[in-house]
Amino acid sequence: MTETRLFGVVGHPVRHSLSPAIHAFWYNQLGLKAAYQALDLVSDTAVKDIRSLARFGYSGLNVTLPHKLSAFEAASDMSAAARTIGAINTLASRSDGDDHRHWFGENTDWTGFLWSLDRVMDVLPSHAVLIGAGGAARAVAYALNTRALALTLINRTEDKARELASDLSLNVSRVTGLTDLTEVCTGADLVINTVSLGHSGGHLELPTTVSGTFLDISYGNAAEATLDSAKNAGWQVEDGLPMLIGQAADAFKLWFGVDPDREAALSAMRKRVSA
Ligand code: ATR
Repeated sequence: MTETRLFGVVGHPVRHSLSPAIHAFWYNQLGLKAAYQALDLVSDTAVKDIRSLARFGYSGLNVTLPHKLSAFEAASDMSAAARTIGAINTLASRSDGDDHRHWFGENTDWTGFLWSLDRVMDVLPSHAVLIGAGGAARAVAYALNTRALALTLINRTEDKARELASDLSLNVSRVTGLTDLTEVCTGADLVINTVSLGHSGGHLELPTTVSGTFLDISYGNAAEATLDSAKNAGWQVEDGLPMLIGQAADAFKLWFGVDPDREAALSAMRKRVSA
């Protein structure tokens, strides 16, 4: 009899994470013997704690805020993309032969983002506006760079955007502050927001557009006000749920060697979020 393989998402807070439901959806669909748990980790020793989970028999982990940098340090080995982005959201257990288990780290946020982008745009423009310069922006900027898009970076703290441009060797046409949002987005074909202002009660106001596409990597209540306002201004909008499904699917692929049914999981999670 095969053993049940164990997976989980490590974060804090993690209670509202959709990851357990997404992965359980695929386990059921494919009849896999696997379990996926939400692991709420409050700790000053997160690197050590994440390392020990490999020894407790977990086959794979997703890692979310605030532990993506700890996962980066906890991994013994990682992909080139994860190294460049500087954050890990997916760990896969590897054995060194003496049955000593350790983590291989991957970043599937950037591939998940590309999947969500390709769903809404058949042909990518040559330039995009990226709002934010934090951890999430790094994965999105890396993704856009692989598709050779030139970027305008816009962030509350301009120096952080400059740092991002230099760390990732981006093709940047302009770096500016949030006060220039209207000017920078006027006439833009593609704008991506990685800043979750919704959590602090704020939202972004975009200028009117004829054919621009606006992606917000948040979803649910956190993204609602910004997405409503962008839609009213004429933007074709998409929230961060497809990116979440995309990153989960790429983690699943790393663990099981199979690309799961992304669209079915997306419509199931869409129903769940709007319920
Ligand atoms: P994440 O992993 O979600 O990107 P992060 O690394 O903490 O989280 O980055 C947060 C991003 O949101 C940053 O771009 C931050 O801007 P600063 O670099 O100026 O700090 C931005 N941000 C957070 N709260 C904001 C607010 N109230 N107004 C504008 N930008 C905000």
